[in-house]
Amino acid sequence: MRTPLIAGNWKMNTTTTEARVLASDLRGPLDSIEGVETVVCPPFVSLATVADALRRSSVKVGAQNMHYEAKGAFTGEIAPAMLADLCEYVILGHSERRHIFLEDDALVNKKVAAALSAGLKPILAVGERLEERNAGDTEQVITRQVRAGLAGIAADEALIIAYEPVWAIGTGIAASPEAAGETIGLVRRLVAELYGDEFAQALRILYGGSVTPDNIAELRAQREVDGGLVGGASLKATDFVSIVRQSAPAAG
Ligand code: PGA
Repeated sequence: MRTPLIAGNWKMNTTTTEARVLASDLRGPLDSIEGVETVVCPPFVSLATVADALRRSSVKVGAQNMHYEAKGAFTGEIAPAMLADLCEYVILGHSERRHIFLEDDALVNKKVAAALSAGLKPILAVGERLEERNAGDTEQVITRQVRAGLAGIAADEALIIAYEPVWAIGTGIAASPEAAGETIGLVRRLVAELYGDEFAQALRILYGGSVTPDNIAELRAQREVDGGLVGGASLKATDFVSIVRQSAPAAG
């Protein structure tokens, strides 16, 4: 049995003060829910504050991005070891990084390798764009992103993958549970080709893209969907808590 995981991606939202309040609001309710791993990913500048607000809580902290170099002249960038001091997880290859900041598969691959060697747990995000989906290229795009993202990387239990169709992110139009389950099944088969079936069966693969308290139960009802990467709905404590509560094994 895979432990479900719900990660909140706060994106470029919350001041440090707001981040502390949100983390404090989440702490009590989330600590009372059993059987779900929870992670919140605030902006870099609030990582220390949120980590402090969640000390000795079951809620874990993650970053939203990272540079792959250990240190040096990379103005404005954050190195793996800097994050490893503050948090456990890091989202890599998010569609906003790929499409707004033009990160390609090769760069994402370097980041995944660097995160793992720094002892971080990468949440590797993959997903097709609307044009690619309409052209019937979903399988091809996901196959490329998974294979290239994991190229040369040894099997590591710290790895998590999130399938986030780009057209579903922030649009209010989530993938149907069946489509999410089907594509996550494809991701799991690709991972099995790389690392074997046992590893693939143990790997958590999340769905992301307009996850809300209203659709999480049906998404989680899909055998392949091990949780969610939640954007907008992670900024409201009551919504995020509801999503986590409905993701618990007992709720399903
Ligand atoms: P959304 O974002 O839940 O607001 O669609 C998801 C994500 O980008 O991770």
